[in-house]
Amino acid sequence: MKTKLTAPSRDTLDPIENASRDEICALQLERLKWSVRHAYDNVEHYRKKCLAKGVHPDDLKALTDLQLFPFNSKNDLRETYPFGQFAVPMEQVVRIHASSGTTGRPTVVGYTKKDIADWAKLMARSIRAAGGQPRHKVHVAYGYGLFTGGLGAHYGAEELGCTVIPMSGGQTEKQVQLIRDFRPDIIMVTPSYMLVLLDALEAEGLDRDNCSLVGGLFGAEPWTEAIRTELEHRGGIDAIDLYGLSEIMGPGVACECIETKDGLHIWEDQFLPEVINPETGEPVADGELGELVFTTLCKEALPMIRYRTRDLTRLLPGTARQFRRMGKITGRSDDMLIIRGVNVFPTQIEELILKNEWLSPHYQLQLDRQGHLDELTVKVEMRPEVFLDDNDKAGLGRDLQHHIKSYIGISTQVLVLEPESLPRSLGKAVRVVDNRPKA
Ligand code: DLL
Repeated sequence: MKTKLTAPSRDTLDPIENASRDEICALQLERLKWSVRHAYDNVEHYRKKCLAKGVHPDDLKALTDLQLFPFNSKNDLRETYPFGQFAVPMEQVVRIHASSGTTGRPTVVGYTKKDIADWAKLMARSIRAAGGQPRHKVHVAYGYGLFTGGLGAHYGAEELGCTVIPMSGGQTEKQVQLIRDFRPDIIMVTPSYMLVLLDALEAEGLDRDNCSLVGGLFGAEPWTEAIRTELEHRGGIDAIDLYGLSEIMGPGVACECIETKDGLHIWEDQFLPEVINPETGEPVADGELGELVFTTLCKEALPMIRYRTRDLTRLLPGTARQFRRMGKITGRSDDMLIIRGVNVFPTQIEELILKNEWLSPHYQLQLDRQGHLDELTVKVEMRPEVFLDDNDKAGLGRDLQHHIKSYIGISTQVLVLEPESLPRSLGKAVRVVDNRPKA
């Protein structure tokens, strides 16, 4: 029989995890004042936005005064690409990561030594909240590289004292071999890829009773309670939800606790959450659905004040900790797609289509689910003035497929169609047809 993961004892937690609501809020206010002033003094872009709105860091007297300050968004990061929002000289930046922007330019983020140390501690806290202990072996199957998943998980597991297996994503057969031979206790991976791994493990006879895994921290894409039930039942594991985004830090902004598994506790000593109405920008009450907004409280290299995540969720009171929780992400207020954990904006694909003189701007992205994984088909019309035979069309399709793979990092099927074959819309073009089963 496998030994199940258990909740950490309260005396092994960080002191702030045992703090009262009042203590947390007092720390937040002190840190918030520092963070807003740091951004104002050192990030010209943000200072200009504050000046335009007529607010100054001195106006911040209570936590709710943050509502006076302007938002930040992916657009702001694009305007200042690549390093324009860094608040420290480049000599102090020890790491860069990047995620998808809405166009060919990625969203670039940076970290000082202290930022990396803070991140490692928060990821260690997340793994511990999930039931991880120093004696555990942790198999990291999030991608390593510019994506924050792999290295974020890696540093956190090391910080906790675990033995890390830095496998990265893909190479399913190798994953199975390492899980069979190294016998990890915990896996960190996207939930959709975990389902693929479960198929492969079961095919090798590593079913729930024979596989060493007892827990997993799953995130980087939305997933439902139904998937949790499947992962837990088939894998014989505890499946814990882990949330984060590069602009705020990476994985480890919020995580579920194993004792309750009832939504993700936001590590509020380092991040101040708000939920707003995405249309009006006005804050909504705790418990109401809206767009999640984060302010970093300790980040040195890239302080983010009121960053609009575009993720839709609600804020809930704390349970296993006094930190507030967020419900599972129910969707997004923009058109970003998450395909096998990779963030993709339709506009990124559009840019690549329009680089080709034979292809028209009439295109549609079709999403289907094959087995456990999302499949993306790009349908694009050739321009009416060109004449192409089937071979040419297939060649054009392969070129575009290759460009999408190398610039965005996802595999697609590309269909080059005759002019006028896609439906025309009278209003907004329907760019995305999502045939994936709804939760
Ligand atoms: O996905 C960081 C991460 C890595 C989180 C590994 C968890 C585990 P980005 O690539 O910047 O960073 O993408 C951030 O992914 O705004 C959400 O839309 C989505 N996302 C991340 N975690 C979850 C989750 C990483 N647990 C974007 N549930 C976010 C739902 C998630 N969506």
